[in-house]
Amino acid sequence: MGRAAMAETPAADYHSEAVGEYYDEVGAFVELVGGNLHLGYWEDDRDNTPFPIAMTRLTTMVGERLALAPGQRLLDVGCGVATPAITLARRFGVAVTGITISGGEVAAATHEVAEAGLAEQISIQLADAAAMPFAPARFDAALAFDSFPTAPDKRQWCTEIFRTVRPGGRFVYSDYPLSTAATPAEREMLRANTVAHPPGDMAAATAPAEAAGFTVTETLDLGERVRPYYTEFLKRLGAQRDTLADRYGSERVDAFVAGITPMYEFCREKLGYYLIVCRKPD
Ligand SMILES: C[S@@+](CC[C@H](N)C(=O)[O-])C[C@H]1O[C@@H](n2cnc3c(N)ncnc32)[C@H](O)[C@@H]1O
Repeated sequence: MGRAAMAETPAADYHSEAVGEYYDEVGAFVELVGGNLHLGYWEDDRDNTPFPIAMTRLTTMVGERLALAPGQRLLDVGCGVATPAITLARRFGVAVTGITISGGEVAAATHEVAEAGLAEQISIQLADAAAMPFAPARFDAALAFDSFPTAPDKRQWCTEIFRTVRPGGRFVYSDYPLSTAATPAEREMLRANTVAHPPGDMAAATAPAEAAGFTVTETLDLGERVRPYYTEFLKRLGAQRDTLADRYGSERVDAFVAGITPMYEFCREKLGYYLIVCRKPD
């Protein structure tokens, strides 16, 4: 699938509100992934790094590419429950503003930030990445870490991020490319799991940022490096099924398992992972 196929899918059939509801529901199971709603990074096939450490490693890789200095202002677009924001605030000494479209995540993220003792350094807001309530050039840098694949209109997200980042600031995002053919049923499954418009290749993945005015300075194709995530996640889900059922009820947990298992099996086989580093020209 390439750019033409992406353009054929109208953005209007896929709403941000539905994405918010999806993450409200998924949020209940966030403990499975230690609060990290993103993939992990493994060096090679012999790398046995434990699941949560591999996830934090990917956060750090993203953070290093943002070229942050202590005291700077970082925008986290699609911040989940603020686990990456907490990691980045601690490691780089930056002030983070996180936005999410899920009300449940705002509450959970705000709680996590307070628990971490970082309420002065991290603020969380309910906002849509397509129309953000921030002044132009408000931030030194921005990231959209595994949130970009959920965007109904990726160009619009990039336009908004370009507006709110200062000249010379960085923007790092990830996207999930689909380079092989997918059946209509598989596409529907991706869409139901908020991945509505996977790019066909790196050129398609960088196009929305370039169209918004960013210069792409680095692209990484990490498909093979993140692939163990899917197996590890499903293993953990199996091991913790009964504990989760005690907390959330069997019906809800079984529905989650029934939805996420074929999705992640498909992702493991057919979905890739790109990390894209951009700079707003001076
Ligand atoms: C896969 S999660 C990633 C969360 C977080 N970046 C992390 O790595 O843990 C996707 C995130 O994007 C957020 N999101 C999706 N659509 C959004 C929108 N239109 N505006 C703001 N946030 C959005 C979701 O609420 C969720 O927090």
